[in-house]
Amino acid sequence: MHTAVFAHRGSKSNRPENTLAAFEEAMRVGSDGIELDVHLTKDKQVVVMHDEKIDRTTNGKGQIKNYSLAELKQFDAGSWFSPKYKGERIPTLVQVLELLSDFSGILNIEFKTDRNVYPGIELKVAQFVRQYRADLPVVYSSFNHESLIRMKKIDPNAELALLLWERLADPWRYTQQVGATAQHLWQPSALSETAHQLQQHGIKVRAWTVNKPKLMQLSFEMGLDAIITDYPEVALDLRANF
Ligand code: G3P
Ligand code: CA
Repeated sequence: MHTAVFAHRGSKSNRPENTLAAFEEAMRVGSDGIELDVHLTKDKQVVVMHDEKIDRTTNGKGQIKNYSLAELKQFDAGSWFSPKYKGERIPTLVQVLELLSDFSGILNIEFKTDRNVYPGIELKVAQFVRQYRADLPVVYSSFNHESLIRMKKIDPNAELALLLWERLADPWRYTQQVGATAQHLWQPSALSETAHQLQQHGIKVRAWTVNKPKLMQLSFEMGLDAIITDYPEVALDLRANF
């Protein structure tokens, strides 16, 4: 089994992150997986963006949770990256699911619930996935493991991945307790003996964010389950010649 290549926030290196343009590019290059981040608007719509604030990646300011979807749609989410992408908007999860109608890889949805600001987001996401792409393999991840536990209660078949910076003291038992099948580890933690030990316990290891060709190569050599990268095209080219 080869190491899968997941496009981080779409193809983040050459498109404005977490936009439809970024996800189109991720599909165009043949990514095995696509990673994105979700938040809830003031009117409880699920939108795709990395930060809780819109300041960095749009021409607006403030917290997502304080805007309605209609208000958020006024902002430009592409110009900050390049004038070429002027007019890109913050996408909803539904728009992304519709865009991915022919995508047969894995969708990795990260709940950005680190500060517990979005009550009900797990149920909303589960409903949208069921309604728009029930057939799509989805991996739910979060640094907030309570979010994953909630997701498992909503959908006992949901595939969960613990987002972690470092190896845990008792990683297998904890992973099992949460009901996860994978760990998404910060790359220095993943590119170590830990990965092999986790895999021996049946836990998948996906490393983030692997952007240097040397580290991509090492991940392939180590047989990690996946890398999550801003450069999916580079990683796929390297893997083709591996
Ligand atoms: O899923 C891996 C990675 O996306 C987690 O960190 O901050 O880029 O969402 P971040
Ligand atoms: Ca993420």
